[in-house]
Amino acid sequence: MIPALNRVLREVRADVRAARERDPASKGVSTFEILSGWAGVQALLAHRIAHALLEAGVPVAPRTIAYLSRAITGVEIHPAARIGDEFFIDHGSGVVIGETAEIGHRVTLYQGVTLGGTGFQPGKRHPTLGDNVTVGSGAKLLGPISVGDGAKVGANTVVVEDVPPGSTVVGNPGHPVRVEGRRVEGPDTDWIHLPDPIAEAIKRLSERIGDLERRLEELDGNGRRVGEEPELRPRTGRSSAGG
Ligand SMILES: CC(C)(COP(=O)(O)OP(=O)(O)OC[C@H]1O[C@@H](n2cnc3c(N)ncnc32)[C@H](O)[C@@H]1OP(=O)(O)O)[C@@H](O)C(=O)NCCC(=O)NCCS
Repeated sequence: MIPALNRVLREVRADVRAARERDPASKGVSTFEILSGWAGVQALLAHRIAHALLEAGVPVAPRTIAYLSRAITGVEIHPAARIGDEFFIDHGSGVVIGETAEIGHRVTLYQGVTLGGTGFQPGKRHPTLGDNVTVGSGAKLLGPISVGDGAKVGANTVVVEDVPPGSTVVGNPGHPVRVEGRRVEGPDTDWIHLPDPIAEAIKRLSERIGDLERRLEELDGNGRRVGEEPELRPRTGRSSAGG
């Protein structure tokens, strides 16, 4: 039990250090203030304890701690999730980390990030993040995908495929805008301006309506074509010749 406690204390010290290094708002703030006011750090502290208890085979307590931590911080981390050193969740709220997620060292997540599964299958179903990965606010990483060391995931990106090390992915579906730190070039990599089938269909419909309107304009209100002479008398009704 003592080695496990020592490990948790070491991990928490590293987590507080990570918050200091990666959150500009923590400058000049005491450790006590970070522990009492940073929801992401509190969630992590709770997770370190819940995870240690789960590994020690303690029943009920790990899930209870995770549940209380979620109620207080808005961050849900499954007690079985594996998290490396110097992990930092900025702002905290809305982060979900699933049971089989694995997170390397010096990883940063912003608020609203989901490391989730894609179905009901048991076994490994959550993402694996390498070291030094940064995941922007609101990003969803789904399924047993791998995110390579040093990769960045843009805010609100939806990632369902592996992300190579050192690359930056943005958008939905996530696509690379940098690979090994260099900007992605070339016609085949223009994922930003993808064809939009719905917009294309609306454009075609609007052209068709314009065409129909033009053809209608060629007819006057009585069903005559423009330029066509009006009839001298109506086709129906009494004849002016009497009878
Ligand atoms: C992706 C990110 C890490 C920037 O990476 P970068 O390698 O510096 O990329 P750039 O800023 O050069 O952008 C590259 C392209 O991706 C686009 N892009 C950047 N971030 C994007 C995002 N989140 N979603 C969609 N497109 C994005 C840029 O407009 C640019 O497009 P262009 O090539 O057509 O001009 C950053 O934009 C981001 O999203 N960071 C997360 C920050 C965050 O969540 N902060 C929360 C604070 S509370």
